[in-house]
Amino acid sequence: MKTIIYNIGTLAGILPEGVLKLEGEAMNHVECIENAYLVIEDGIITDFGPCTECNAIGNNPEIEYIDAEGGFVMPTFCDSHTHIVYAGCRDGEFRDKIAGLSYEEIAARGGGILNSADLLHETSEDELYRQAMERVNEIMAMGTGAVEIKSGYGLTVEDELKMLRVIRRIKETAPLTVKANFLGAHAVGRAYRGRQSEYVDLVCEEMLPKVAEEGLADFVDVFCDTGFFTVDETAKILEKAANYGIRPKIHANELEVSGGVQVGVRYNALSVDHLEKTTEAEIEVLRGSETMPTMLPGCSFFLGIPFGNAKGYIEAGLPVALASDYNPGSSPSGNMRFVMALGCIRMRLTPEQSFNACTINTAYAMGVSDRLGSITVGKKANLIITKPVPSLAFIPYSHQTPIIEQVILNGNRI
Ligand code: NIG
Ligand code: FE
Repeated sequence: MKTIIYNIGTLAGILPEGVLKLEGEAMNHVECIENAYLVIEDGIITDFGPCTECNAIGNNPEIEYIDAEGGFVMPTFCDSHTHIVYAGCRDGEFRDKIAGLSYEEIAARGGGILNSADLLHETSEDELYRQAMERVNEIMAMGTGAVEIKSGYGLTVEDELKMLRVIRRIKETAPLTVKANFLGAHAVGRAYRGRQSEYVDLVCEEMLPKVAEEGLADFVDVFCDTGFFTVDETAKILEKAANYGIRPKIHANELEVSGGVQVGVRYNALSVDHLEKTTEAEIEVLRGSETMPTMLPGCSFFLGIPFGNAKGYIEAGLPVALASDYNPGSSPSGNMRFVMALGCIRMRLTPEQSFNACTINTAYAMGVSDRLGSITVGKKANLIITKPVPSLAFIPYSHQTPIIEQVILNGNRI
């Protein structure tokens, strides 16, 4: 099956083959072609260029022609950090938060993540899948073409496996690319209250072997932060996961400077995420590593906590990725265009830096940048077609205007 998209006002996000992430100054630029065409064959980008060079636009009945009507065509967003498999919601805590309780205070009262774990326990696998697919459809319509989904609302052996099986089912049935992350160490399960080290043993000795045996996880995660898991507990879990060949992505430095970045880099984490609180030491340890610093501005926005120092990281020559953290407690939105806008408005990234942070760098942070995250011959045709817009900056600037005309995944319109 061959498709030609023509009359593209601006084709944005072009990268040469082999570029897996952008760091420092390289993040300042988004390569574009004005008045372009793009060819898709069997779901893969096989050619693109300026329309003057395109002889192929015609009436061949074997070819599907899509008129972009002068809009932007760009790669779909990659969302490298979400928790979109959950039951119900936490709108009651929203009221507590408005009344003045902090995220830590809500958690310390036995609410927060444990609330979601109770709800998930009572929800069947089918119902959980149904609820999660509503969110999957929602984010695809907003331009997300790849998503990483964490477990971590199970917190018992059975319920963690239940969540991961739901993620596997999404992987098998949804047209977007999915990566599964085992986050058994998201909080200490209720039955283990006051026995944290025994819970860590449960994660290492029972959960991880079963998860590995069923091949349910691409990554392992730990909420390494004050009030949750320590650096030593994190190291223990990552050590065990390494025996199964499962690479980490870590929750670090959301609430305090936790040492999570250092332990993540020590175990060659693919990404360290949150980073609302960081010092020079974190920048130093990330320099020269293969770990993608990932910030979650939707969480900062929703909880009213500091935004990560994305600009400082880029000025230090590092890469930065921005993801949604879509979850019921700290970021109930998976709108990556809003994430891109927050990158500009609250983190003072340029539209180009924010664009790269939400596409190629998040693709890297979920291990798919060899086939997603840019306009590159040989990559998957996961594309957004917008209405005609005046510039790249307009995309985050007018972030509530519904400019997305079509989302194409694997070469097919969704
Ligand atoms: O990334 N920080 C830890 N985990 C999630 C929040 C989970 C929740 O509150 O349900 C986060 O913000
Ligand atoms: Fe998270």
